[in-house]
Amino acid sequence: MDPKPIITVLFLISATVIAAQEYVRPPPRKALHFPWSRKPSSLPQQVHISFAGDKHLRVTWVTDDKSAPSVVEYGTSSGKYSSVAQGESTSYTYMLYRSGKIHHTVIGPLEHDTVYFYQCGGQAPEFQFKTPPAQFPITFAVAGDLGQTGWTKSTLDHIDQCKYDVHLLPGDLSYADYIQSRWDTFGELVQPLASARPWMVTQGNHEKENIPLLKDGFQSYNSRWKMPYEESGSSSNLYYSFEVAGVHAIMLGSYTDNDEYSDQYRWLKADLSKVDRQKTPWLLVLFHVPWYNSNKAHQGEGDSMMAAMEPLLYAASADIVFAGHVHAYERTKRVNNGKSDTCGAVHITIGDGGNKEGLAHKYKNPPPEWSVFREASFGHGELNIVNSTHAFWSWHRNDDDEPVRSDQVWITSLVSSGCVAEKTLELTKILTEP
Ligand SMILES: [Fe+2]
Repeated sequence: MDPKPIITVLFLISATVIAAQEYVRPPPRKALHFPWSRKPSSLPQQVHISFAGDKHLRVTWVTDDKSAPSVVEYGTSSGKYSSVAQGESTSYTYMLYRSGKIHHTVIGPLEHDTVYFYQCGGQAPEFQFKTPPAQFPITFAVAGDLGQTGWTKSTLDHIDQCKYDVHLLPGDLSYADYIQSRWDTFGELVQPLASARPWMVTQGNHEKENIPLLKDGFQSYNSRWKMPYEESGSSSNLYYSFEVAGVHAIMLGSYTDNDEYSDQYRWLKADLSKVDRQKTPWLLVLFHVPWYNSNKAHQGEGDSMMAAMEPLLYAASADIVFAGHVHAYERTKRVNNGKSDTCGAVHITIGDGGNKEGLAHKYKNPPPEWSVFREASFGHGELNIVNSTHAFWSWHRNDDDEPVRSDQVWITSLVSSGCVAEKTLELTKILTEP
């Protein structure tokens, strides 16, 4: 008997079995350990930038030298600084730790889509950033729960390879967890990216660091990652909004009061009443604890915030909600009130930046009808908003040099589907309720 047909059949069977096998995830990577040593005292460290109102950016950096000036010199040619801005500074103590001098300096007005060169405190080295475009298209990189492990480095390296305008981070930054020098090492780790593009962050549970009777929460986070809350009419750095290139983005706090009688809720209503969907057709929302989560980790933790705020965000036709906290990736259909709804938001959990706690592997089965794609792998997302009607969302595994699929989808805006127009009266009613 000719053995060739049998060999061919065996080959085909084995190939089919291999193709059907579950994707094999690479092993965990170790936490990075940085030798933390004091730098020359006036050297700018941990440089990052963030939006600070229309056409303005806030430059933040740290010096050991308490007399170092909070000055930023900047311009559009390397080494030639045509403008200078004076800022403010702060510092904090945390048990035995004393922070360096934390400088916050707002610069602008800046041109759109332009590369600027800058120096902090009159000291080399020179940094550079690119401002976002005035209009679409615009691309956001999205990654939460970063930490500072080998996987974090991998995530940042992947983001660095993509062309993007703004980084969005839905909470859990450094995983300092009370050890304050880890905030410094995290600042150094992200500086190459965060000094070059605006990093817009909101806080997670790992930013709290409160000690009953001794320390209020969020002291380190608020001191180091000042966001444009004053510029957006908020009284707290824990919730704020910003606008860029046809997008209104709202950053909420999962760990500050968020019920209907809270300051945060009142501020959210006031902020939504200012949104002009002609000017900003896309409405994005970020917070840390997901509302739609079919992973077994952190089940139900977002329920009370969801009960209070989802009706408001639904009436306001929020397009996409990004959350973190669960160390995995999940994307939903458009949803509201626990089920699919064509006028609801797409919810994306992207707490897979690379933290030290590892991935959340266990899922509820069968998946809820609203869950489209879910996987426990480290990675990042990219949201390319092409115009007022269409955006392309993609999720990228860090080990995407292997031939494995990642998630991608075109999302159409609620302005274009008519939901925003349909709900005008409902929104007005909810916003004007006392
Ligand atoms: Fe978290």
